Amino acid sequence: MKIFVDSANLADIEESLERGFPCGITTNPSILAKEERRDYRTHIRDIIALLTKSDRPSLPLSVEVFATQPDEMIRQAEEFIEEFGDYDGLTVKVPVGWDELRVIATLAERGIAVNATCAMALNQAVMALGAGARYISLFWGRIRDTGYDAGSVVSDVRQLMDTSQSQSEIIVGSIRHLMDVNEAMLAGAHIVTVPPPFFPKMCSHPKTDEAVHQFVTEFAAWMG
Ligand code: E4P
Repeated sequence: MKIFVDSANLADIEESLERGFPCGITTNPSILAKEERRDYRTHIRDIIALLTKSDRPSLPLSVEVFATQPDEMIRQAEEFIEEFGDYDGLTVKVPVGWDELRVIATLAERGIAVNATCAMALNQAVMALGAGARYISLFWGRIRDTGYDAGSVVSDVRQLMDTSQSQSEIIVGSIRHLMDVNEAMLAGAHIVTVPPPFFPKMCSHPKTDEAVHQFVTEFAAWMG
């Protein structure tokens, strides 16, 4: 069970890395577009700098192609490799689709780690993993938007992956509620990628605060 940071915000990424728990970072074009407008390459390089100076300098960092045509996606992925390829954790995110499968297969054949993204169904996962994806990203909140049970999709994919001894991993994204994180982990996600606002909530509990308050108060009274 691993937690990734689903963000391109430098301050949030740094705060998370300082706390030791992140096992990777995921971005997408919309996530990048939430940050102050600048050359995206500069921004990605700044994320890489944060990762490099952390205690775990090769954590996977997903950067998504923003082209819509397969040949252009491959060209863009090549540009990512040229720009950021000296970072070992670089992972290229490619949406799942019939034409995109050729992109996934081409990149995977070249030894590039691919995160097949925007997957909503078991069949899409099977196809992307078959094409060589290192990660399959299943979008929890968006699956639920369509009236389907995201937990069943995740557990079905996990079951097939375990049966076939797949070395790839499921990343569950599109987290909307704290409960989604728990449910995704229990459904069999290898990784859940979580927006930073959830992290403090994932560490807190009113009974923890109550216990800590009691301990320090009673000890202070005893000390006089
Ligand atoms: C994960 O890799 C995705 O970038 C992200 O979680 C998408 O979630 P959304 O449904 O909030 O766009």
